[in-house]
Amino acid sequence: EDLDLGGYPHYMAKEIQEQPESVERIIRGRLDDRFGVARLDGLNLTPRELRGFARVKILGCGSAYYVGQIGATMIEELARIPADAEAASEFRYRNPIIEADTLYIAVSQSGETIDTAFAVEEIKRKGGRVVGLVNVVGSTIARACEGGVYLHAGPEIAVASTKALTNMAVGFALIALALGRVRDLSNADGQRIIDAVRALPGQIKAILDFEPEIAEHAKTVAAAKSLFFVGRVRGYPVAREGAQKFKEISYRHAEAYQTSELKHGPLALIDEALPTVAVVPSDELTERNLAAVQQIKARGGAVLAVTHADVDFGELDVPRIVVPKTEPELDPILLTIPLQLLAYHAALTLGYDIDKPRNLAKSVTVE
Ligand code: AGP
Repeated sequence: EDLDLGGYPHYMAKEIQEQPESVERIIRGRLDDRFGVARLDGLNLTPRELRGFARVKILGCGSAYYVGQIGATMIEELARIPADAEAASEFRYRNPIIEADTLYIAVSQSGETIDTAFAVEEIKRKGGRVVGLVNVVGSTIARACEGGVYLHAGPEIAVASTKALTNMAVGFALIALALGRVRDLSNADGQRIIDAVRALPGQIKAILDFEPEIAEHAKTVAAAKSLFFVGRVRGYPVAREGAQKFKEISYRHAEAYQTSELKHGPLALIDEALPTVAVVPSDELTERNLAAVQQIKARGGAVLAVTHADVDFGELDVPRIVVPKTEPELDPILLTIPLQLLAYHAALTLGYDIDKPRNLAKSVTVE
């Protein structure tokens, strides 16, 4: 087992560090510079079929569902098709309306999650078209889908998923590109995304180089009994995933909110004892996010920002984790990485079992 750990203290640490290579693997052979498009032959969909979908519905559980939300936003932004994500565990129980012109995407690391597998069966029974975004080759969900994109993240052992989730987000960027290029996305815009995707492994490496600084931030946040994670639009699923990772391995109460919703209620909870991790990318919403940070600070709440170098915090005294900038549509992929390290180091500080957290299984295969 030690050999498999390759010198790392935990599988989670190893899997976080493997991300530059695992992202290389999901993009290898899939980027076509001539036409600014992603080649996803495994989807088994012709350009005409891809063009025919009026909607996209993404289904997954837990963190896979949160990455599905990241994917839905990418698809809406790049392909301008209405897209949303839903917890497969809810979908399968609510007699969903299945539409012939919706592309259903099931997303799963293990390919064995029972709720996602049953959602796929429900879609197929009612005549829907479902493809998979799955890591484990030949798994139940991969076999049940009519086509798909393998994640090629490699084996993931730690219960807290990291590299598979990153590859899911990159996989959604490729799917968004494929859907966009049979619609209104130009060759030049497709190439803009391709260039950005190609740069991701190097940028992830740069984030991982900041591990010592992130470990210091983790000591501070681990001291709190309860935390908020906030983000808006592209940043909201990032906040959800950040809170999820934190809950899973540090056993701290971590709650994710849309930054925009704070003033509609949760702001009442802010005080010195409740720190907030705020996702503040450099984009069209920066000013609004900074205003929310200011409101939190004004109520005595500490803030740790996950942000970009050019975001000007002015007078606000806010410690920051700075992430390299990519194209705005792809920002969530990189913003999520430091939150993995934050949760990992918080759990390390608190002395918990990082690879096998209490009450959790790597994949939920029974009811
Ligand atoms: C992630 O850290 C979790 N352990 C969990 O939410 C997981 O993503 C979920 O159970 C789905 O698993 P799957 O990707 O194997 O379907």
